[in-house]
Amino acid sequence: MKTVTLINGDGIGPEISDAVVRIIEASGLQINWDIQTAGTDVIAEEGTPLPARVLESIKINKVALKAPITTPIGMGFRSVNVQLRKALDLYANVRPCKNLPNIKTRYDDVDLVVIRENTEDLYAGLEHKIDENTAESIKIITRKASERICRYAFEYAVKHKRKEVCCVTKANICKLSDGLFLECFRNVGAEYPKIKQKELLVDNLCLQLVQDPTVFDVLVMPNLYGDIVSDLTAGLIGGLGVAQGANIGKYGAVFEPVHGSAPDIKGKNKANPTALLLSAIDMLRYLDEDKYANKIEKALYKTFEGGCFTEDLGGKMKTTEFRDAVIMNME
Ligand code: NAI
Repeated sequence: MKTVTLINGDGIGPEISDAVVRIIEASGLQINWDIQTAGTDVIAEEGTPLPARVLESIKINKVALKAPITTPIGMGFRSVNVQLRKALDLYANVRPCKNLPNIKTRYDDVDLVVIRENTEDLYAGLEHKIDENTAESIKIITRKASERICRYAFEYAVKHKRKEVCCVTKANICKLSDGLFLECFRNVGAEYPKIKQKELLVDNLCLQLVQDPTVFDVLVMPNLYGDIVSDLTAGLIGGLGVAQGANIGKYGAVFEPVHGSAPDIKGKNKANPTALLLSAIDMLRYLDEDKYANKIEKALYKTFEGGCFTEDLGGKMKTTEFRDAVIMNME
């Protein structure tokens, strides 16, 4: 039996992870869940929102499924999510964005992947106050991390039979930092002549994405742009409730949805577990459990085809009702 670290998170985290664990159980696949708590709730007892035991567990198991964790805004501790990605060197944040059956959106045939550099840029946490009225945040872009993420994007394209990789920067303004990222893209891209290559500025990308997202394939970009663009692309396929993600490194992987802890609907049995479920399906494929991944995906698609939706998608179902519908649809 495989062991996977499970971080239930906070906010809607425990509700959606309970649903996903039960759906996986119902598929017949047995997983030994190594449950690890993190975030605000553990600070009082352990003095930190990210205790060493959490990192140890992921290092040993190599795979984690993670529900969202709240980060205080403007003050308080540094994001547990960002710390985790950095500490485990989970350098590639992979966010596929594909239409789901029977979820009506503005565009059909959206099938793109946002690949976001996950360890540096403005997320390096290098911020300080120069004086009372001035703050400085340092954007770090290195050749090593930029080449690594661009290579990941090209390898991803090859593995998944994708045709094009588009590099997204703001190299007209951040000439040195984003300029370096773009230079790395071009250097690495030269090794992949069979993959079409495109370059876009991030503002232009946003315009084009809302006008016609169907023309995009694989997008690779520095951390901050990836964070923002992947919320935009989530909106193209039905919203944050269905947007999956994965953080991949050389020594392990953490699968988690794009969305946060949604404090506005916490404890109301309203959260859509689909984003975490799709992340878990991806995780099962990563673990070579394709049979179960396909079985669960089929049941999820059947649930949507049957018109079962949570409130974020215009339906009436509670989290637990949606969970039960997916389980009922399992063949
Ligand atoms: P959010 O993604 O939690 O929520 C934005 C909006 O989307 C809210 O209206 C929420 O109700 C809705 N929503 C999100 N997920 C949903 C789901 N599964 N089903 C139905 N509706 C859903 O973003 P927000 O409010 O900016 O952040 C809340 C907290 O989450 C913050 O502390 C933030 O730092 C944290 N966060 C954590 C992440 C992680 O753990 N990886 C990622 C993003 C944010």
